[in-house]
Amino acid sequence: MLSVDHLLSIAELKRQDIELILGRAQNFSRADARDLLEVPFLRGQFVANLFFEPSTRTQLSFEVAAKKLNADVISLNMATSSLVKGETLLDTAKNIEAMGPELMVVRSSDAGVPKMLADELKVGIINAGDGQNEHPTQALLDAFTLLEHFGRSVQDGLKGLTVAIVGDIKHSRVANSNMRLLTTLGAKVRVTGPRELLPDDLSGFGVQVVPNLDEPIVDADAVMMLRIQKERFGSQEIPSEREYHKHFGLTLERFLRMPKHAVVMHPGPMNRGVEIQSEVADHPRSLILRQVKNGVAVRMAVLHCLFAKRLGMK
Ligand code: CP
Repeated sequence: MLSVDHLLSIAELKRQDIELILGRAQNFSRADARDLLEVPFLRGQFVANLFFEPSTRTQLSFEVAAKKLNADVISLNMATSSLVKGETLLDTAKNIEAMGPELMVVRSSDAGVPKMLADELKVGIINAGDGQNEHPTQALLDAFTLLEHFGRSVQDGLKGLTVAIVGDIKHSRVANSNMRLLTTLGAKVRVTGPRELLPDDLSGFGVQVVPNLDEPIVDADAVMMLRIQKERFGSQEIPSEREYHKHFGLTLERFLRMPKHAVVMHPGPMNRGVEIQSEVADHPRSLILRQVKNGVAVRMAVLHCLFAKRLGMK
């Protein structure tokens, strides 16, 4: 049983929670579709998707995951909702809660919104990415993909592997969640990016900060490329894409200098030709679409674990 009632961050998960979710995701990933249709567990339950910020992968992946578990799903369309008439986010969430979902999947451009809803409502909350804070299910699917690719069990974890996270670390909730999760699972994590895109203090994360791209990736087992989060820059100057690509873009030439077994990852959306050259994104050693595929099994596991916890409490 999970130790938490909501999935708000990697920071609050215990190792046993992580192992439970990843282990269950492995089961879902191995089961074929016919087996899953036999699972009556969530029939009659429903999940509400509240995405207050655009999403392709996370929103649809949660929708597919819930449907594979025989749960029903409703999704708020922000642009055609009463939010545009001035209704507050909290009132919107309270009204949707009144319709009876057991779980709400929440994405917001403001850090702390999922936690605020968890404090205000009775429904279970899953953080689908909140501002620059955390994106816990992305990190879980990234870790799952690394375990799968390198043939590790959940208990083995990622000990002995080196993962480089490259790009706009400062504005990235994916980096925050991954630095926490990958180090918890035993990986050595190096981060790099332009000085202005690195946070002032990463001392609490147990990662190594390296000021250039070539050094941290030369012996890494995996490199995780992040896009520049232009929407989070405010009035600051956005770096030139050409300069960025020259110094921190993963070109084919750089990728081929990495070990022959090394893999590339990206949470998406990708900006081809900026942080990653197309030939790398589409390379046989790219795990990018595998990450998306695994996202379904991981989100099924998250829904399953939280439903089990909540239904067990009743
Ligand atoms: N990785 C990710 O969160 O993608 P979306 O913004 O498309 O959901």
